[in-house]
Amino acid sequence: MKKLIVANWKMNPSELKEAKRLFNKTKQAAARLTKTEVVICPPFIYLSEFGSRASKLKLGAQDVSFFDFDGAHTGEISAKMLKNIGAKYAIIGHSERRKLGETNEIINKKIGIALSSGLKAILCVGEESRDNDGRFLGFIREELSAGLRCLSRHLIKNLIVAYEPAWAISGRSGAGADNPDDVFKITVLIRKILMDFAGNDLSRNLPIIYGGSVNSENIAGFLKKSQVSGLLVGGKSLDSEEFGKIIKIADQS
Ligand code: PGA
Repeated sequence: MKKLIVANWKMNPSELKEAKRLFNKTKQAAARLTKTEVVICPPFIYLSEFGSRASKLKLGAQDVSFFDFDGAHTGEISAKMLKNIGAKYAIIGHSERRKLGETNEIINKKIGIALSSGLKAILCVGEESRDNDGRFLGFIREELSAGLRCLSRHLIKNLIVAYEPAWAISGRSGAGADNPDDVFKITVLIRKILMDFAGNDLSRNLPIIYGGSVNSENIAGFLKKSQVSGLLVGGKSLDSEEFGKIIKIADQS
């Protein structure tokens, strides 16, 4: 299975010119990759600019609408629109969206809609803070179980789980990235929960990726020690040189 590196540009950059520059630089850096899939998740409005420029890069959205039919839903962007414009992936349930009020129920609905529209859904789970008694593990379990509620196995096969402890996201608490050993333990828990939902055979192959202050210095540790299938990269995906290093290291790991 190819490694998966997902660039979450968040609400950046503010000019199309800069978005194109960043995209083209990343495309160049990705040209020689053989074992890594790179997914660029720009703000919605840039997706159509990049949709037709087929290359090694795949496109993803940072969210999808909760509504599954076209209609009177001001400001919403449907999973079908995203699919039709060339997106292959959608990040869903990012902690920055949960903070705006997205509940596990909403996220569950979005995951179902994204998957049934043919997108690969990247479900983000992760605690706000970590306690010494392990209560945060129950929180992760609840986010994941609620996010997958009532989804059929044939849909779950296109799921990716991103473990992203909110406190480790750059600019959040200042704590920096999680350590690879802890991430490994949590991916074991995530895999167990996935087994309950999807059975051993299917869940064994579902990618689990890590996000939170990933950079070119710590990526190898996550890929080797945590044994994740890939990374979700925020801040450093906006720096084409650093991101170029990240994807190169991933490809060589
Ligand atoms: P970061 O963001 O790499 O800047 O920590 C990751 C994310 O929030 O997806």
